[in-house]
Amino acid sequence: MIRDLVIENRTCRRFYQEVAIELETLRELVDLARLSASASNRQPLKYILSCDPQKNALIFPCLGWAGALKDWPGPPEGERPSAYIVILGDTEIAKSFFCDHGIAAQSIFLGAREKGLGGCIHASVKRDELSKALGIPPRYEILLVLSLGKPKEKVVIETIGPNGDFNYWRDSDNVHHVPKRRLDDIIIG
Ligand SMILES: Cc1cc2nc3c(=O)[nH]c(=O)nc-3n(C[C@H](O)[C@H](O)[C@H](O)COP(=O)(O)O)c2cc1C
Repeated sequence: MIRDLVIENRTCRRFYQEVAIELETLRELVDLARLSASASNRQPLKYILSCDPQKNALIFPCLGWAGALKDWPGPPEGERPSAYIVILGDTEIAKSFFCDHGIAAQSIFLGAREKGLGGCIHASVKRDELSKALGIPPRYEILLVLSLGKPKEKVVIETIGPNGDFNYWRDSDNVHHVPKRRLDDIIIG
C-alpha cells in the first residue's frame, strides 16, 4: 500500500480551483508533519496555512512553477491551488534545519494524496516578496511552500532512457510525464 501511495504521490501543478480545502484539513496534514522525524528532535518548523482566496492570491505570484516547462508560466486562474502550507524555520529554535522540511513535506503530501488531494513542493519562492505579503517576522526563514488542491492533471511515470534525460515533459493531451531512474542505476554497491 505504501508503494501505491508513493507512486500516486506525483507532483501536480493544475487543479480544480473551485474545490475548496478546509482549514481543518490543512491542520490534519500539518499534524502528520508534527509527528515526523526531526534532527535532534528540535522541531524547529512552523507553518502558515492558507485556504481563502484573498490570502491565496498573495502567495501564488511568489511561486516558481515547473522550470523545465519553458513555455508554461504556471497554472492559469481556474486551475490554481486551493490552499498553501508555508513551511518556516524558526531561527530562535535552530540555526540549521537539516532535511526536516523535506520530511515534513513528504508526510504532508502522502496524507494529502490519501485524501484525494495533490500538489507541488516549491523551493523556487520569491522569499522577500512572500515575507512582506504575509507579514512574516524576520525570525522565521521561509524554507518551502506547498501548494495543494484537487488534481486536474494526469501524470505518468517513465523510465529514464540511455540518454539520461531527466526532464519532465507534457504531451499534446496535456499529460505530464515524469522520468525516473532505474533501480539498478541508483544502487551502486
Ligand atoms: C526540494 C524540491 C523543490 C521543488 N521545487 C519546485 C518548484 O519550485 N517548482 C516546481 O514547479 N516544482 C518543484 N519541485 C517539484 C519537482 O519538479 C518534482 O518533484 C519533479 O519534477 C519530479 O516529479 P514527481 O514529484 O512527480 O516525482 C520541487 C521538488 C522538490 C523535492
